[in-house]
Amino acid sequence: MDYQITGHTKLTGLLGSPVAHSISPLMHNESFRHLGLDYVYLCFDVGEENLKTAVEGLKTLGVRGFNCTMPDKTRMCELADRLSPAARMIGAVNTVVNDDGILTGHNTDGVGYMMALKEAGVDVIGKKMTLLGAGGASSAIAVQAALDGVAEIRIFNRKTRSWARGEHLVEEINRNTDCKASLYDLEDLSMLKASLDSSQILTNGTSVGMEPHPEGCLIPDASMLHEGLVVSDIIYNPRETRLMELGREAGCRVLNGLYLLLFQGAEAFRIWTGCEMPVDVIKEKYFR
Ligand code: ATR
Repeated sequence: MDYQITGHTKLTGLLGSPVAHSISPLMHNESFRHLGLDYVYLCFDVGEENLKTAVEGLKTLGVRGFNCTMPDKTRMCELADRLSPAARMIGAVNTVVNDDGILTGHNTDGVGYMMALKEAGVDVIGKKMTLLGAGGASSAIAVQAALDGVAEIRIFNRKTRSWARGEHLVEEINRNTDCKASLYDLEDLSMLKASLDSSQILTNGTSVGMEPHPEGCLIPDASMLHEGLVVSDIIYNPRETRLMELGREAGCRVLNGLYLLLFQGAEAFRIWTGCEMPVDVIKEKYFR
């Protein structure tokens, strides 16, 4: 279809550093074109030190909205005029919508994860989850899983910098949702094994196993896993992580992080345009 940028074209985009490698401009621009929506999506390399000025500029220019990625997600929480309940509980924003000069911060990572599970036909509502990590991505997953009705989440993290974040996360979930959340030391392998034995899903929300260190894996061997467990990784590079290999060895259903990436974008797209992203088109073109 013929497409022209006009005086009416609405701007969306991505703030972060680095951003040039991002797949987001491809999926959003393709979706705008496919639906005939007069929007464009661009990438802006903006670190934390310039975020405030950049956000004020975007507000002044009247952009429709933008995504935030590393290292801007936490700082964006303080710069938004309003926060969605999930973004407030997570303490990080990855999507901002501008309604007549009011910037509302959302976090679509957790929604994206839950949509990805649904797409794969995995039902975790009322069930138990073991989650590795208490950083930004894990927090988004835990909060949304709890809001959506996962019955219990056991979070395992090292007793390092993100331990305090994990404690805060567990408190927030227990105070604001019906889900029972708890935090354990990742080094306590007998507790981890016990948690996995009674869980329906294991989620790796850390970067362990990602390129350039694909040999990394927080689960020592396949004997920790059982056949009924869904093993899910937020990593998509490589497409098959060491954790997923162990899952296969144990006879588990395994999922990588590709659809999380797709559906967090689809949710941002819906927030900005009010339209559903044509996910089948995008999947076919960029997620094969
Ligand atoms: P993101 O926003 O991508 O989630 P993050 O907020 O820095 O990134 O969180 C990364 C998570 O992966 C944290 O839970 C982190 O734990 P630490 O604070 O202990 O590092 C976890 N993580 C990263 N490398 C790890 C490793 N080698 N072993 C265990 N956990 C690790």
